[in-house]
Amino acid sequence: MSTPPTWFASPADAAARLGESGYLADAATATTAYLAGALEKPLLLEGPAGVGKTELAKAVARATGADLVRLQCYEGLDEARALYEWNYKKQLLRIQAANAGGGPEGGGVDWDATHDDIFSDEFLLTRPLLTAIRREEPTVLLIDEVDKTDIEVEGLLLEVLSDFQVTIPELGTVTATRRPFVVLTSNASRELSEAVKRRCLYLHLDYPDAAREHEILQQQVPDLDDRIAEQVVATVARLRELELKKAPSIAESVDWARTLIALEIRDLDSTAIRDTLSAVLKHKSDHERAVKELKLNRA
Ligand SMILES: Nc1ncnc2c1ncn2[C@@H]1O[C@H](COP(=O)(O)OP(=O)(O)OP(=O)(O)O)[C@@H](O)[C@H]1O
Ligand SMILES: [Mg+2]
Repeated sequence: MSTPPTWFASPADAAARLGESGYLADAATATTAYLAGALEKPLLLEGPAGVGKTELAKAVARATGADLVRLQCYEGLDEARALYEWNYKKQLLRIQAANAGGGPEGGGVDWDATHDDIFSDEFLLTRPLLTAIRREEPTVLLIDEVDKTDIEVEGLLLEVLSDFQVTIPELGTVTATRRPFVVLTSNASRELSEAVKRRCLYLHLDYPDAAREHEILQQQVPDLDDRIAEQVVATVARLRELELKKAPSIAESVDWARTLIALEIRDLDSTAIRDTLSAVLKHKSDHERAVKELKLNRA
C-alpha cells in the first residue's frame, strides 16, 4: 500500500498553511492539527460558540487542497441520514420490471438474482460518513455539532472513528482506502461518551488573546484602521468579562468591525458603542447589562 498522505509536515507548517488560507492558529491549535494528520486520528474540538471550531475544519481543507464532506448533526439524526440508505423507490421499480420481464413463457422471476441486484451499489444512497470513507481523493470529514445528536448516534460514529470503516449488512464492510482527516466539533451542551473521546485527539478552543483577535480583524476586515481595531478588541474583551447570556465571539467582533466601517465611525467612544451594540450582543438583558456596566447611559 502506498504511504498515507501527509497533511501537514510539522506544527510550523500547519500554522503557516492555515494562516495562508485565512485561519490564524495559535501554537496549540497548529500542533494539534499537525498531529491529527500525522497520527490519522480524529480531532475533537470543543469550546464556546463562534471561536472558530467549524472554521478550522474548513481551513484544513483549504490549506491542503482536500474536499470537505460535512455531516451537520441535529436532534433526530439517524443512520439513514448519516451513513447510507437504500433507494427503496428504485428497488421497487426494479422488482416490478423483473416481474414483468418474467414473460408468458413462464420463466418465473429468479428472486435470488433480483435480491442480489437490488442490494448492490447502484441502489445505495450514500450519506456523509460513507461518502467520506469511500472517497479516494484527500477528504476532510467535518462532523459538526456532535453534541446536538442523540447519544445513540455516537454508536454509529465509533466504527468510523476507530476503524475508518462502515459495515453494510447486505454489501459487507467498506474500509477507507484513504483515511479522511476527521474533525468533530461540540459546544459541550452535553458530555460526549468516553468511547468517542477516547478515539479522538482533543482540543479546547477559546476566545483568542488580544493580539490574535487584532490580527484576525485585520485579516478579515482589511479596511479597518489599527486604532479602531484595538478599540474593538478591548471593548469585546470587557464585554466577555461581564457574564452575559451570550458573550461576543470572534464572529461578532468581525461583524462589529464591519458595522463601524459601514457607518463610517472612526472612534469607538461611548456613544458609538451604545449605538452599535446590537452588532455584538443578541439578548436584551445582555444589552442592558452592558449599558449599565460600561456606563454607556446618555450623559
Ligand atoms: N483563528 C481564526 N482565524 C480566522 N478567523 C477566525 C478564527 N477563529 C474564528 N474565526 C472567524 O470566526 C467565525 C466563526 O467561527 P466558527 O463558525 O468556526 O465558530 P464555531 O466555533 O464553529 O461556532 P459555533 O459553535 O457557533 O458553530 C468564522 O467564520 C471566522 O471568520
Ligand atoms: Mg460551528
